[in-house]
Parts: sequence; structure tokens; C-alpha cells
Amino acid sequence: MINIAILGFGTIGSGVAEVVEKNQEEIKKVLGENLHVKYILDIRDLPGVVKDIDTIINDPDIKVICETMGGKEPAYTYTHLALERGISVCTSNKELVDAHGVELSAIAREHNCSYLFEASVGGGIPLLRTIREACGHEKISKIAGILNGTCNYILTNMKAGKEFDAALKEAQENGYAERNPAADIEGHDTARKIAILASLVSGKKISYEQVDCEGITNVTAEDFAEAEAKGMSIKLLGVYDAENNSVLVAPHLVPKESALYNVNGVFNGVMIHGNMVDDLMFYGRGAGKCPTASAVVSDVIECVKNIGRNINNDFADLEPANVNKAPEKPLGQKFRTL
Ligand code: HSE
Repeated sequence: MINIAILGFGTIGSGVAEVVEKNQEEIKKVLGENLHVKYILDIRDLPGVVKDIDTIINDPDIKVICETMGGKEPAYTYTHLALERGISVCTSNKELVDAHGVELSAIAREHNCSYLFEASVGGGIPLLRTIREACGHEKISKIAGILNGTCNYILTNMKAGKEFDAALKEAQENGYAERNPAADIEGHDTARKIAILASLVSGKKISYEQVDCEGITNVTAEDFAEAEAKGMSIKLLGVYDAENNSVLVAPHLVPKESALYNVNGVFNGVMIHGNMVDDLMFYGRGAGKCPTASAVVSDVIECVKNIGRNINNDFADLEPANVNKAPEKPLGQKFRTL
């Protein structure tokens, strides 16, 4: 039996426990052993939780930790401590990956364990592993993605005539939104995700502060009516353009012919252009308890298969990038067109 711990028992952390319990047979099939959640750490007084990270990292039974706390602290300190003990960490925490992912990946390598973050981008979509393993030999020139489930949920509902505030409230009730929904609607969450993707494919660390970022708060019902008249929709996209060396988050007009046009609700869609493979399209639930937790568990399984070895996540050696400003909007236009 492989023992793991979950740090933070919110939406994603409780989802990890649910995936481990409900899919124990499937997990045993791929691992040859059962996964067991031995510890849950949370600041709240929930039955059976521990509050002290030392209890977890001092237990030699613990091989992998799932960090689903979100935010920089104490997630950074706890991750650092675990990796230094040779305990792998799997996370959904894009803020931490953006801010300290390079350093934490290097610490993992030094201590023969791994730092994986599949769930930090695209929720349940197996995106980072696919880029790392199946596309490593490609020259990727462009990524354009709907990367925030909350914004896509709001925009999809606005297209159908709903008010912004009502749609945001629904997204929050469904557990899609960030604790502070400004991170969703101002585009910062998308910026963190496109920065992680752009870093992986460019081989340089692009931080979210380097992303030209505009959210969805200025999108109106009239904008949708105008877009519809032109056969288009409005989507918040994260765009990495290798040729221009720029990274952008902004609402875009998306024509009906694009595969991203029909990506609706909480779903994410990510288009990647490789020089040999041409266009790839990834689609799946970009937020929500079990889809995101499933991505965390996929990392746990990879870590367990590699206990005592570092999995190269392509992040440990990244030098800081210089990026250019994204091209301006066409003169007199409120939105760029995909
Ligand atoms: N708030 C995020 C979203 C959660 O809506 O996509 C998943 O990262």
C-alpha cells in the first residue's frame, strides 16, 4: 500500500480523496498497489485532520503529498520541506508554480523526488504531460486557449442572455471560481496558466507579470449581439505567440469555424500548433472538484511509479524570459480576432 497525504481539504483536496476512494480498483490496476490517504492537513477543525506539517513529513510511510491548498503560503514552505525530505509533491496550485515552480523543481531533482503540476492548467485535461511527453520533439509556434472555466461559464451564459453577476454567482456555487473571483474575471488566473504553458514550450520561464492581461469585466451584452451578427463569439483567450515572443490574455472574437467557438460552459479548450504535427486541440473540464482532482491523481500515479527518481518536468532549468509586448488591437476595435 502506498500512503499519501493531502494538504488542504477544500474543493480539490476533497476531490482527491474521492477519486482515490471511488477509483481504487483502477488505481490498483495501474500501480499494482492500493493508494491510501493517511493524512489530511487543514487549518479547519475537521474530524481526523492534522494541523502540523511535521507529522506528515516525519512519517517515512508518506511517499507523495498532494498540495491542494492554493496560494503561496504556507504552500511554498510545506512543499519545500517535503521535497527536501525526498517526498514528491503534486499540486493544482498555479500561483505557486508560477512564482516558485523553477526553484521547487530544482529542489525535487536534487532530492530524487518530483514536483508535478498537471492540475494547475486546464483542470482535468491531460495537457502538460502530453506536451512534455508527446510533443517534446515539436517546434510549437502558437498556443491559444480558453483556460478559465469561470470566465468561459460567464461568457457562455452572457451569450445566452444572462447577466454577468448571476453567471458569476452560479460559477462560484459550482466551485469553479477562485476564492477571490477577481483572479478569474480580471484574467490573472488565465495569465498564470498561459505563462506556465508558454514556459514549458519556450524553454524560458515566463511569469504571469510578463503577460499582457485584460479580463472580461468590460464585455457587454451589446458586444455579444455585434459578435453574433458577424458569426462570431467572444472568448477569453490566453495566447502565446512564439514568432512574436509575446504572451497575451484578452477577450477575443472567435469565428464559428474555429474549434474554440463551441467550447462552452466550464469547459476549457487549448489549441497548439506544432511544426510537424500541425494543429492539436485539447478539450475538457477546466475546473471543478473531480476533474481537477483526477489530474492531481494522475501525477500521484506517475510519482509512485518513479519513487526514488526525479521526473523531469521541464521546469527545473528554466532561465527567466524576455518577452515582447503583444500586438495592439486593430484600430477602433474593442477586441482582437482569433
Ligand atoms: N478558477 C479556475 C477556473 C479554477 O475557473 O478555471 C481552475 O483553475
